[in-house]
Amino acid sequence: MNYQWYPGHMTKAIRMMQENIKLVDIIIELTDARIPLSGRNPDIDELGKGKARLVLLNKTDMADPAVTKQWIEYFENKGVTVVDINSKQSKDIKTVKDKIVLACKDKIERDKKRGIKNRPIRAMVAGIPNVGKSTFINHLTGKSAAKTGNKPGVTKGKQWIMLGNNMQLLDTPGILWPKFEDQEVGLHLALIGSMNDENLDTGELAVELIKILNKDYESVITEKYAFSKSRVEEIIDKEGIPEGAAYLTAIAESRKCLLPGGKPDLQRAAGLIIDDFRNARLGRISIERP
Ligand code: G4P
Repeated sequence: MNYQWYPGHMTKAIRMMQENIKLVDIIIELTDARIPLSGRNPDIDELGKGKARLVLLNKTDMADPAVTKQWIEYFENKGVTVVDINSKQSKDIKTVKDKIVLACKDKIERDKKRGIKNRPIRAMVAGIPNVGKSTFINHLTGKSAAKTGNKPGVTKGKQWIMLGNNMQLLDTPGILWPKFEDQEVGLHLALIGSMNDENLDTGELAVELIKILNKDYESVITEKYAFSKSRVEEIIDKEGIPEGAAYLTAIAESRKCLLPGGKPDLQRAAGLIIDDFRNARLGRISIERP
């Protein structure tokens, strides 16, 4: 499959990021807890050099908790401040604010030494499309958030949202471009629905998903769609088709996805399992592991 993102969008995104990064002390980078590496663009490390950083593993409500725990250790071992969150819930917000202060502690110390007191921390949110940036900003700022106008020193048109009296957040998030030089990264982004489905081969995508599920979440498929492993083996023997197609056949049979004439509709079965995965109806599943 050929995954792509348009070069024009990328140039614009880079320019915006560069402009905004100059204005802030800390970059709050969101990634998807189900694919923490594929869901972030490592170019941010270069772009955000010299700035404090906080990584948020978002959508943890859909990710495997045991794997998320491993990811937290992974990032912490690299010296990265990290928090696992569900942006749809406000309860994680206090932790995030505390971690912002923690990640900026060097800057706060430096300010103190220079006699600068109570200068608010300036932050921006960044991440690839669909990772949950707007949802997170809405929860972080809450209803009482007050926007400050165009103050001197602030680029015209930029809006800062006050977060208490010691933090300000740029109201527009930085958009990072997904980086899929590696086909596997493209696959992972496609699986979670971060790519335009029009250019994707649903059948191929479903077969890849089935492979991952069978490797790491053994009985999830057979339990969800109520068929036995031996039915899959029967189909393979009878039809002489690969395992992935046999699983799709079994799903189609079980869910009565049939073509006129009664043959199993593999395309519909493929759409079904992808949709069930994306909406966490297969349970909490992580695609990437440290
Ligand atoms: P973006 O600004 O980074 O592009 O992302 P946005 O906030 O628009 O979020 C993209 C989708 O992800 C939204 O779903 C949003 O509700 C969902 N989302 C964000 N954070 C979380 C989370 O922590 N957990 C879960 N389960 N979902 C999250 P949508 O289908 O586009 O809209 P809707 O379902 O909210 O109407």
